Amino acid sequence: MNVPAVMLLIHLTHIHLKALETSWVEGGVRCPLGQFPCGNTSECLPQVLQCNGHKDCPNGADERQCGDNIGWADLFARTLQKTNPVDQYFLNECLLQEFPESCDCIQTDVECVEVSLQDVPSLSPNVTWLSLRSNEIRVLSDFVFSEYSALERLFLQNNSLHFISKHAFSSLHNLKRLFLSENLISFLSPGVFGDLNQLEWLMLDHNPLSSLSQDTFTGLQSLMYLSMVNTSLQQLPHPSFCQHMPALDWLDLEGNQIQTLNYSILKTCSKLEVLLLIDNRIRTIPENTFQSLWKLAELDLSRNRIRELPKNTFKSLSKSLLKLNISHNPLLRIHPSHFHHLTHLQSLALEGIEIADIQTKVFLPMKNLSHIYFKKFQYCSYAPHVRSCKPNTDGISSFEDLLANMVLRVSVWVMALITCFGNLFVIGMRSLIRAENNLHAACIKVLCCADCLMGVYLFFVGVSDVKFRGQYNRNALLWMESAECRTIGFLAMLSSEVSVLLLTYLTLEKFLVIVFPFRNLRPGKFQTGKNC
Ligand SMILES: *[C@@H]1O[C@H](CO)[C@@H](O)[C@H](O)[C@H]1NC(C)=O
Ligand SMILES: *[C@@H]1O[C@H](CO)[C@@H](O)[C@H](O)[C@H]1NC(C)=O
Ligand SMILES: *[C@@H]1O[C@H](CO)[C@@H](O)[C@H](O)[C@H]1NC(C)=O
Ligand SMILES: *[C@@H]1O[C@H](CO)[C@@H](O)[C@H](O)[C@H]1NC(C)=O
Ligand SMILES: *[C@@H]1O[C@H](CO)[C@@H](O)[C@H](O)[C@H]1NC(C)=O
Ligand SMILES: *[C@@H]1O[C@H](CO)[C@@H](O)[C@H](O)[C@H]1NC(C)=O
Ligand SMILES: *[C@@H]1O[C@H](CO)[C@@H](O)[C@H](O)[C@H]1NC(C)=O
Repeated sequence: MNVPAVMLLIHLTHIHLKALETSWVEGGVRCPLGQFPCGNTSECLPQVLQCNGHKDCPNGADERQCGDNIGWADLFARTLQKTNPVDQYFLNECLLQEFPESCDCIQTDVECVEVSLQDVPSLSPNVTWLSLRSNEIRVLSDFVFSEYSALERLFLQNNSLHFISKHAFSSLHNLKRLFLSENLISFLSPGVFGDLNQLEWLMLDHNPLSSLSQDTFTGLQSLMYLSMVNTSLQQLPHPSFCQHMPALDWLDLEGNQIQTLNYSILKTCSKLEVLLLIDNRIRTIPENTFQSLWKLAELDLSRNRIRELPKNTFKSLSKSLLKLNISHNPLLRIHPSHFHHLTHLQSLALEGIEIADIQTKVFLPMKNLSHIYFKKFQYCSYAPHVRSCKPNTDGISSFEDLLANMVLRVSVWVMALITCFGNLFVIGMRSLIRAENNLHAACIKVLCCADCLMGVYLFFVGVSDVKFRGQYNRNALLWMESAECRTIGFLAMLSSEVSVLLLTYLTLEKFLVIVFPFRNLRPGKFQTGKNC
């Protein structure tokens, strides 16, 4: 149990909280920094009660607008709205002359789901929507769709596709969305998508692709959304990934084995708005990597192996980035200038990252930040201007700030008791036994008293721990400001200073006695020493 450390912590927290007591204005309502108004009322509630799943404002405003839809969720909703006009005709009639019996047909849409098809069935040429999901198709041979040039959406997920011939998709000039997820595709010939000039979505998730060349994507000049989750990719095609996909807006590469990312790979991806690289093996990110991505709004680098980030990595994204996730990386250090430029950022996730030298100035430049995610609850107090900070108190005894665990809590009480009773006992015994050296006896009594004060201090720390358990943060400011806190702080300080001084005095005296034994020989000296 390190008494001075606990003391120091209390005082540092105290100083820190004091420093944050500047005013905070939002929507005309004045709240102290670290607090946020209850909707349009003048009531203020601390950060920790915002979005904690419990209504604390009388009007419940603290639980409103808590969802973090920043980034792709928002963009996706907008994209869908744009490209998905509500169908005006509720016509269930089939407009095709020919389609397999096992399939369903509505207007020009054909659905053949889980019907054990082994080949692409023959259909009328004006089919626009074809789902062959969950069948047993193994091979797509050349020109297999060449008659269906009216096709706009083609679903081939969850088949056993392992070979796609180079001209399989030829003449699908109107295709907008192509789903090839959950197959066994390990190779895509260069130019296989060459005719898909209108393609906007391409889903290749869960295929054992492992490698790709830049020419695989030739012809995809309208592609906006490319999803390659869990495709065992070791490397992004280089020298430049988006060379044939100039409109690429959204790239999902979650769950691959990508190790390098650099400027030249992303150079041509200047339209990119969402880049997801979750769960890869990226170790380093050169400073200029994102320099060409001037539209990037969401960047997710979580669950990689990044140990160090150059200071200006995100600098070029300062005008665009709204959401950044670098959680679960073994980052050694978070430098203030990492986020310095990200003034538009609204959501920042730093889960699972130990921030040794956390400072308020790291987060303050991000004025528009509304969601922040940390490893520890206690970091939240360093971002008091952010409304929603996770984790909040739920499930955590928040006094853990001071008494981090059970061992610490128990030791506070044990030490308090031992210190108090031990010292009282010594004082009592000393008073009973006739002292031979009065000065010395007095010294030791004072020393005991001082020590006793430390016991009292610990006792109070323990009591306030129990008192504020589970809601420490709510009371932290009040407690730090209170007279009791200051008084016991003073007692602790007094105790240690008196102890140090007295011990110095006693040690010095003893030293002199040993060095000059005869000059200072007095009866009783060594006897006294035994009791010390
Ligand atoms: C707050 O807003 C609600 C509706 O959003 C309104 O009914 C109410 O009058 C407002 N209260 C004040 C004090 O402006
Ligand atoms: C489908 O194509 C056939 C001939 O190719 C044509 O007669 C028919 O009108 C078309 N139907 C629709 C709904 O376009
Ligand atoms: C994949 O297809 C099989 C049948 O072919 C089906 O049993 C299974 O549920 C499908 N899986 C998914 C995720 O659709
Ligand atoms: C990744 O894809 C492979 C097939 O390529 C599949 O066996 C595996 O279950 C997938 N993993 C996850 C986490 O989806
Ligand atoms: C970028 O990464 C690729 C793939 O690892 C590598 O071949 C290329 O040399 C790198 N470029 C630079 C400028 O480091
Ligand atoms: C950040 O990434 C982690 C790990 O991939 C994920 O669990 C978390 O939900 C992400 N946070 C946000 C805000 O997207
Ligand atoms: C912060 O958000 C507000 C409202 O959403 C917006 O008007 C303002 O421009 C943003 N500021 C910055 C620096 O992004």
